[in-house]
Amino acid sequence: MVVSRDNIGNLRGWYEGAKDANQAMLLGSHLDSVRDAGKYDGPLGVLVAIAAVRDLYNRGVRLPYAIEVVAFADEEGLRYGTTYLGSKALAGTFDAADLNRIDAAGVTMADAVRTFGGDPDRIAEDRWKGGDLVGYCEVHIEQGPVLEARGLPVGVVSGIAGQSRHQLTFTGEAAHAGTTPMDHRKDALVAASVFVQAVADYAESQAGLVATVGRLTVQPGAANVVPGEVILSLDVRHARDADRLHASKHLIDVAGKIAAQRGIALTTTQVSENGTVQCSPRLSSLMARAAEDLGHATIQLASGAGHDAVEMAGLTDITMLFVRCKGGISHNPAESVTEEDVAVAIDVLGKFLALLAADD
Ligand code: GLV
Ligand code: MN
Ligand code: MN
Repeated sequence: MVVSRDNIGNLRGWYEGAKDANQAMLLGSHLDSVRDAGKYDGPLGVLVAIAAVRDLYNRGVRLPYAIEVVAFADEEGLRYGTTYLGSKALAGTFDAADLNRIDAAGVTMADAVRTFGGDPDRIAEDRWKGGDLVGYCEVHIEQGPVLEARGLPVGVVSGIAGQSRHQLTFTGEAAHAGTTPMDHRKDALVAASVFVQAVADYAESQAGLVATVGRLTVQPGAANVVPGEVILSLDVRHARDADRLHASKHLIDVAGKIAAQRGIALTTTQVSENGTVQCSPRLSSLMARAAEDLGHATIQLASGAGHDAVEMAGLTDITMLFVRCKGGISHNPAESVTEEDVAVAIDVLGKFLALLAADD
């Protein structure tokens, strides 16, 4: 492949097609990770794509379309709170205003880009310019328990649930832990804790809804000081956009009521939002056929996790193949896949590319 790095940090490998090829197929996933992550969420899809291209190369095969393998730079959004930075740049939906965001150390995204050698002013130039696309295919660890429970190495993804992320700041009053009577306190952490419980209670009561408070910052954060401020994250997901939007609004209202009851101020900001995305029935049925031709029964399953495929869906048809995951554990160092299942994924992807080449 001819390899380049674009200005947001995506690594892109181009494998030329046959002489008369006038289209391209994108394969990819992300290289970034979460804190205390596993090894496979993201990198697995990049490596499987490279392995499939290596196999084409070793056999001297050129397809009626070129392939670009993309190792996306920042999917998880940990550093700047914005998900899908790399795939947004490729899809042409990158918002230049995000370059002003600062990380926990006060470094702007623009400076972070400059530090690794990218040019923040040229990110718009990295949008897809390679001509007509056949589609985008992402292989990814399932990150859930379904394939393991069904005894299947791989599964075809039907769609990706939408997600909303918010930041909530509860501002009370820092005070002395020994001298401030309980009825004089404006304890931001107590209000935040009541909210965390309310989020779980509500999500447990609504079919298909998942809602998570994954990060709390407590100020001033001392054993002998009543907490004056808590900043927390709220992540809300549902396969139906209307249900997700309703739940987000409801939970923000609940936070407002809890804060008001305790004399605490609340501010909220929406950090990101993505609607539910469906995979292409045509590409997904080719993917299922690829698995079945190789002797593997498949199922269709929905993804509760977000993927770069969400952004790529704005550019072209998408399909995804999930790989069985031990115990359904992900975003955790215990994340695990077997060599045999990864071999199946490489073979299925190779077969899919061949079926796609023959499909008109
Ligand atoms: C990505 O891993 C997500 O949060 O869904
Ligand atoms: Mn992830
Ligand atoms: Mn991922």
